Amino acid sequence: MGMVRTLSGIQPTGNLHIGNYLGALVNWVKLQEQYDAYFCVVDLHALTQRPDPEVLRSAVRELAIGVLASGVDPERSTLFVQSQVRQHAELAWIMMCLTPLGDLNRMTQFKDKSTQQPENINAGLFTYPVLQTADIALYRPEAVPVGEDQDQHLELARETIRRFNFTYGGDVFPEPKTVKSQAPRVMGLDGESKMSKSKNNEIGLFETDEETMKKLRGAKTDPARERRTDKGTPEVCNIYSYHGFFSTKEQRDEVAEGCRSASLGCVDCKKLLAQNMEAVKGPIRERAADLRSKPGQVDEILAAGAAKARKTAEETMVMVRERIGIAGGKA
Ligand code: TRP
Ligand code: SF4
Repeated sequence: MGMVRTLSGIQPTGNLHIGNYLGALVNWVKLQEQYDAYFCVVDLHALTQRPDPEVLRSAVRELAIGVLASGVDPERSTLFVQSQVRQHAELAWIMMCLTPLGDLNRMTQFKDKSTQQPENINAGLFTYPVLQTADIALYRPEAVPVGEDQDQHLELARETIRRFNFTYGGDVFPEPKTVKSQAPRVMGLDGESKMSKSKNNEIGLFETDEETMKKLRGAKTDPARERRTDKGTPEVCNIYSYHGFFSTKEQRDEVAEGCRSASLGCVDCKKLLAQNMEAVKGPIRERAADLRSKPGQVDEILAAGAAKARKTAEETMVMVRERIGIAGGKA
């Protein structure tokens, strides 16, 4: 198959939320149509947060289930767990020896994480982007879809890959381009920061209709609408931005008009949103429940994905080991 290869990764931390869904998964489902796609659950990256082993194990499974339930098709894409392909850790070490300390020092995510977990600033947190570089390089993808918060890591990966090619001979790795996700960043329920587990402002992908409505009820709207009869400005309202993702053009126009003229109240506006979200979440939740009831099937999918990933990764490693003069190459 002459399809161009793509690779992306997602961390098994916490439950999937609609930010993950709109920002990454929707894009993955589309990409698998045109690309030879590799999708990796990056459990080695999650170790930087020192999760409880049982919690990690179940988070990896739940994430794989969520990715599959969202429409990533294991017949088309290669879905696998990072730790099932040992070559990631091996290439990460090699890439570490090619990465200047000064480059890692500039990484803003490291600085953010260090403030978030001041009690556990481990070396893995610092070298996190090098493992990410290895994830990418192993599969020699031409395109890497990530959100804009990963731009800096991608740039570092490109530089390191370039340095490898320059140092050891140019034809091992193509330079991976970033594929921007078309989805703008999804704000959290607080309307203040990006939706994320650590900010506790998320709408879970597996949440029921009622759970979502409960959260939406408390969510901020245009503060100018103190009373039901006050006119509002949809553009300043976070709820309206969600309509942008889940409602039809006609519905959005109606909402905007109703908000401006005060003919639509915020409660009804939120109900419509909850309904439209449920139309997306409902079927995903059902597919996830079905997969949860068939653990053997999920294991098989992940085992097959890992086998395929391992084959590609080992092909890369044979070339790499040979070039750099360590055991396990062809020479
Ligand atoms: N660091 C990425 C994130 O937090 C996840 C990731 C790990 C990744 N390895 C990758 C993304 C390789 C793209 C390619 O979103
Ligand atoms: Fe926001 Fe809708 Fe209320 Fe307008 S009607 S302020 S868009 S929730």
